[in-house]
Amino acid sequence: MFSRETYTKRQQELVKNVNSGIILLPGNEESPMNYTDNPYHFRQDSTFLYYFGLSRPGLFALLDTANGNISIYGDDYTLEDFVWMGKQPSIQELAASCGVEYTGSINDLFNYVSQAKKRKETVHFLPQYRSKNILKLMDMTGLSAQEIKTTASTKLITAIVSQRNYKTAEELVEIEKGVDTTIEMHIAAMKMLKPGMSELDVVVEIEKIARATGGEISFPTIATINGQTLHNHYHGNIVKEGQLFLLDCGAETSMGYAGDLSSTFPVGQTFSNLQKDIYNLVLKSHYASVNALKPGIAYKEVHRAACLTIADGLKSMGLMKGDTESAVEAGAHALFFPCGTGHMMGLDIHDMENLGEEFVGYGGEPKSKQFGLRSLRLGRALEPGFVLTIEPGIYFIPELTDQWRAEKKFMEFLNYDEINKFRNFGGIRNEEDYLITNDGKRLLGNKKKPMSIKEVEVFRK
Ligand code: GLY
Repeated sequence: MFSRETYTKRQQELVKNVNSGIILLPGNEESPMNYTDNPYHFRQDSTFLYYFGLSRPGLFALLDTANGNISIYGDDYTLEDFVWMGKQPSIQELAASCGVEYTGSINDLFNYVSQAKKRKETVHFLPQYRSKNILKLMDMTGLSAQEIKTTASTKLITAIVSQRNYKTAEELVEIEKGVDTTIEMHIAAMKMLKPGMSELDVVVEIEKIARATGGEISFPTIATINGQTLHNHYHGNIVKEGQLFLLDCGAETSMGYAGDLSSTFPVGQTFSNLQKDIYNLVLKSHYASVNALKPGIAYKEVHRAACLTIADGLKSMGLMKGDTESAVEAGAHALFFPCGTGHMMGLDIHDMENLGEEFVGYGGEPKSKQFGLRSLRLGRALEPGFVLTIEPGIYFIPELTDQWRAEKKFMEFLNYDEINKFRNFGGIRNEEDYLITNDGKRLLGNKKKPMSIKEVEVFRK
């Protein structure tokens, strides 16, 4: 955990910024796999972690803006629980560790909320992603599940985003620990992969590295010869000489901060010439977006730089045609790059995505509805303290190509006969994590993840 002062400062700033009614912040409960006492790995809610740092199931925070009181509610474990779990700290001890003075049972919490409702105070809560917390809020507020879904507090969301979007020096230390472990995972995979192994062999080895730090993986590992499938979580293939292997994985530190990196490397010792051409184009688009990073630039322009580079490169390879700017404007390049260049990162790999991309990544502005651009999670003007990923890629998705071709879509920009020759190529993505600084950007991580063909092939010998 950070110091008590860090949490107190964050809590007080939230109270000051919301400045009306009561704020309800549920922590997470255990999530059972097949019966109650056999739960999945416990992951605390990230907003709860940010303000209180406590990773224990069943906690609930209430911040009362009228009197400035901040409380943590939860039921203490009993002697019976200690028999199974060992001795556990009390709610009061936990609260004290994050600078919170007031504590109570869950029953006390219900009474407090009921009194606040009688006084007609505004009850602020966030969009919820776990059914147990929706049920708790329904019981507490008397709202229906639908109302809980549609009446989350914009004021609370905005206040939280305006704190969590700016990473402090102590958070950056944690994030860089996560990034460094993630780099180790990538290098280990590059060193170990051999034709004849299964994708799962790699997953098992690299996830060990994340867990050995006392942390976890920060999202389900993508380790695949089918890199054209953006979030491919299938690990059952045996890898063969000549194929490309796409790895997108991350470590989460014991405090919950994420790393998120991607690499693409050959299953054999070297890339083929065709693989090199596409790889180098992905790399060129990567650095076109990296070079654009600075405070004040809108991330959608950073994304546009990647798209233009990809479209231009594919044009010189004969896969695209026509005016590059018009092709990107129309969205034709999205056949090869149907997703965004990157996203915010912090306590979540897609930081605060549960609060709504329009608030986190777009500062309240609406997102584009265009195919490709609508998957861009971040579009807003960048500010010092933002941590984000850069991860443009080129993907050959046969199903998408066949559909667009049948629809005669973007015939003026796409050479379908040439594109068809790549239908078994797969996909390539590289990814790095950056901090926006006062005068530009800084690549995160104290170690170096191989990026160029030469750097990657060193680890494939
Ligand atoms: N690296 C996985 C993702 O961004 O969704």
